[in-house]
Amino acid sequence: RPGARQWVPADGDVEALRTAVGQCRGCELWEPATQAVFSAGSPTARLALVGEQPGDQEDRRGIPFVGPAGRLLQRAVDEAGIDRAQVYVTNAVKHFRFEQAGEGARRIHKSPELAHITACKPWLAAELARVDPDVVVCLGATAAKALLPKDFRVTRQRGQLMRLATSRGEKTFLGTIHPSAVLRVPEEQRQEAYDALVADLRVAAGALA
Ligand code: URA
Ligand code: SF4
Repeated sequence: RPGARQWVPADGDVEALRTAVGQCRGCELWEPATQAVFSAGSPTARLALVGEQPGDQEDRRGIPFVGPAGRLLQRAVDEAGIDRAQVYVTNAVKHFRFEQAGEGARRIHKSPELAHITACKPWLAAELARVDPDVVVCLGATAAKALLPKDFRVTRQRGQLMRLATSRGEKTFLGTIHPSAVLRVPEEQRQEAYDALVADLRVAAGALA
């Protein structure tokens, strides 16, 4: 795995990155996937949301967060009082990692390994440097591994604002659970898990003021 660095353009805006990511061969995930999935939302946003990797529907459509987890996230963003037009949304890993039992079988999501996160990090670093948001929300453990200190644990430290050094100076970060984790919570506790995600998003939005 050479990592993405050699495919990341040294300059140009988010659109230049989006154009270039389709050529990336920084790890083996590009090959079975349909296409690279880059970001959505405003390239001048002050708030960025970072997910894990595209899912099945995102892989087919080439747009992040358009499947079930994405719909839940949009609802939570709205409910947190955040204007979704003012948000930049992306993933830690740009290609869908999955397992397929057989020809024509359903594709089953597989979480990326640390090596994939590391290989793909130059894309995430480049887009965050260009968008330069004030607040970055890490949705789930994968995004946290990409951007937060090694000892960060979602279970213990979710919803806490952290000031961290970046290439663009100190920025505010917050880790919370992934919207797909809310979908996996048993029905009786799902509303509570969803409300906790909304509460964390509110904390992040509050840090913009
Ligand atoms: N989950 C993610 O982390 N990202 C997506 O784009 C879709 C689902
Ligand atoms: Fe490149 Fe990231 Fe895709 Fe791997 S997952 S090929 S590093 S864009």
